[in-house]
Amino acid sequence: MRHEFPILAQTIHGQPLTYLDNAASTQKPLAVIDAMDHCYRHEYSNIHRGVHTLSQRLSARYDAVREKTARFLNAARPEEIVFTKSTTEGLNLLASSLGELVLRPGDKILLTTLEHHANIVPWQRACQRFGAELVVLPINDAGELDTTHFSDYLDGVKIFSAALVSNALGTINDLAPLIAEAKARGIHTIVDAAQAVAHLPCDVQALGCDFLVFSAHKIYGPTGIGVLYGRHDLLDAMPPYQTGGDMILSVSFERTHYAAVPQKFEAGTPPIVEVIGLGAALDWVTDKGLADLAAHEETLRQAAEQALTALPCLRIIGTARHKAAVISFTLDGIHPHDAGTVLDQHGVAVRAGQHCAEPVMRRFGIPATIRASFAAYNNHDDIGRLVAAVQATQQLFQ
Ligand code: ALA
Repeated sequence: MRHEFPILAQTIHGQPLTYLDNAASTQKPLAVIDAMDHCYRHEYSNIHRGVHTLSQRLSARYDAVREKTARFLNAARPEEIVFTKSTTEGLNLLASSLGELVLRPGDKILLTTLEHHANIVPWQRACQRFGAELVVLPINDAGELDTTHFSDYLDGVKIFSAALVSNALGTINDLAPLIAEAKARGIHTIVDAAQAVAHLPCDVQALGCDFLVFSAHKIYGPTGIGVLYGRHDLLDAMPPYQTGGDMILSVSFERTHYAAVPQKFEAGTPPIVEVIGLGAALDWVTDKGLADLAAHEETLRQAAEQALTALPCLRIIGTARHKAAVISFTLDGIHPHDAGTVLDQHGVAVRAGQHCAEPVMRRFGIPATIRASFAAYNNHDDIGRLVAAVQATQQLFQ
């Protein structure tokens, strides 16, 4: 499989590239690179606007990716798929548009301590706009959601938004029962699947959620394209987020009639070639088998965690029973940024920092972590090089 990822065949500082920053962004297989290249070379034009052949052909291909994405998420119909720029844009859209539909002064929005800033800051803006307030579900010392008193957190809540997998710790959250309980109380539910989509099935009907968001670049697709799944009746009732061309039925200076969903939420020329790239990425993952890819990553994660745990003066942050593809750790006496820099000298790419999840760092009383995160193309050699580079880092700072 590594031959399908041309970027992996290079050296960094004279060492083979060991790419373990997949939670930040995955590398792209030839299937995706070639699909986008082919589109620009042979198929490109604007869509939904032309009577000419190129436009009509590419419009059909673009719409086919919507259908493919609906199948991938087990959505009831393709109109429930809105193309966005990213997970972040999907969450901003919901905070603004769903917020306008349902939030009134005094209402509450329930988040969890594990959220990425993209699932915190848009809701803070919504609180300011609509007079709502945030409530935050805590986590335990393993980095798992503490759901002991979950029902107590639901009083007055109108929206519950939570990550399926924590980007900072890798915790897999068992959201389906929480969503069921929230929905029984009439609460709108949102799943941030940015870190889950490449590693576990994101079946919106099994999850029971009203909305789910992800970014293509976390699942071997291009940047600049994300997906918002939304229940049709809710999307239909929500006001538009952005306005302009292609989201209207008719415009006069007196009055505009909006198009039906999903067009209502796709103002302007969309990221057309990126949508084609997303389609190729979903095909690639489906062909390989998501379950097989996930099983391989889990073998690697367990092997890496075992090898790292055996090192002295290394602390794993986040020891949840169910984790996906992420190991966060600290090294005694070494700042994660320094460690990340030395690891890079050994060709090992990890993320060092707060991972856009400051509340998680605060919960564990640490400034940052070193995060190694796995994808389908990683192998046991990568783990060996990671462990050797961590040992070398520890020796350097002794
Ligand atoms: N959200 C991405 C990460 O966790 C960028 O690294």
